Amino acid sequence: MDPFGRQIDYLRISVTDRCDERCLYCMPEGYRGWARRADHLTADELVRVVEAATEAGFRKFRLTGGEPLIRKDIVDIARRIWDLTDVQTLGISTNGTHLAGMAGALKRAGVRSVNISLDSLDPLIYRTLTGGSLDGVLDGIDAALSAGFEVVKLNCVLLRGVNESQIRPLVDYAAANRLPVRFIELMPLGPGGPLGDRHFMPVADAMDLLGGRELFRPATSKPQGHGPARYYRYQGNGALVGFIGAVSCEDFCATCNKLRLTANGKLRPCLGRQGEIDLMPGLRAAGPDDGEVVSAIREAIANKPENHAFVEGYVSPRPMTAIGG
Ligand code: 5AD
Ligand code: SF4
Repeated sequence: MDPFGRQIDYLRISVTDRCDERCLYCMPEGYRGWARRADHLTADELVRVVEAATEAGFRKFRLTGGEPLIRKDIVDIARRIWDLTDVQTLGISTNGTHLAGMAGALKRAGVRSVNISLDSLDPLIYRTLTGGSLDGVLDGIDAALSAGFEVVKLNCVLLRGVNESQIRPLVDYAAANRLPVRFIELMPLGPGGPLGDRHFMPVADAMDLLGGRELFRPATSKPQGHGPARYYRYQGNGALVGFIGAVSCEDFCATCNKLRLTANGKLRPCLGRQGEIDLMPGLRAAGPDDGEVVSAIREAIANKPENHAFVEGYVSPRPMTAIGG
């Protein structure tokens, strides 16, 4: 339990801060803050952190980035984490560009759930937003669906003036493929904010665009997952739609159950408040004793703030790519 009575048992692990895409909201143009490769946690160190985290009570894990699938040893990392006794579930969050060739291997390695970023179904808007190409991602989604994961979900960051025309097509695509889709409010992450307030769109506006709140019935079953999304059955077409009102929903943080680990070994108790605990000294000290790592993880839980400070104007100096989505 953290100081506010929340059970913290979910660790999101960034395995790299690099990415093959350039999403407007994630990586400021000309970004130079990359961690040195030598400071990235190795597969062995990642496994040690997960083991230490299970000792501190963690049971759910998700691999993120940057883009986790660009790490050559990602399947091996997934398998080794899944093989640990106290790991109850393992997910991965990806932009989908490499998923077509890897979905089967990830499934066999033990990955239970895959979250795929899909901010647009229009190839031009997709390219403007991410710098990448839509086709490969759609193939990746098909591959994930055929691979038989327990859960495959879509994530779309809401950007006023950029992708609001895509909200309805995404909900239709979600219904047609029987996939949950989640709409996420833009969070101010990164120096100067990679995107200004003018692109912020509250989740309530997305609901309005889909015909209003009356068309959303609170879902009786949630897809397995640990995020703070609120899920609804959309009466328009039966899609399961989640909303992540990270900025506009006042009680958003009350159900937060996670810590984040950056690719260079810093534990972040909160995306939206300053404060990091460095696991590197413990991990790279001589000797294999992980007691120090376990204590650092407990310290991060004890330091978890009650809520984020986005509303007071906090802007994380690290962009999302350097934190881990
Ligand atoms: N605000 C909200 N969501 C973001 N993501 C990345 N950067 C931001 C941001 N500034 C999302 C991505 C991905 C998930 C891992 O985090 O869309 O789906
Ligand atoms: Fe890459 Fe994901 Fe960041 Fe986009 S949001 S640049 S896909 S890490």
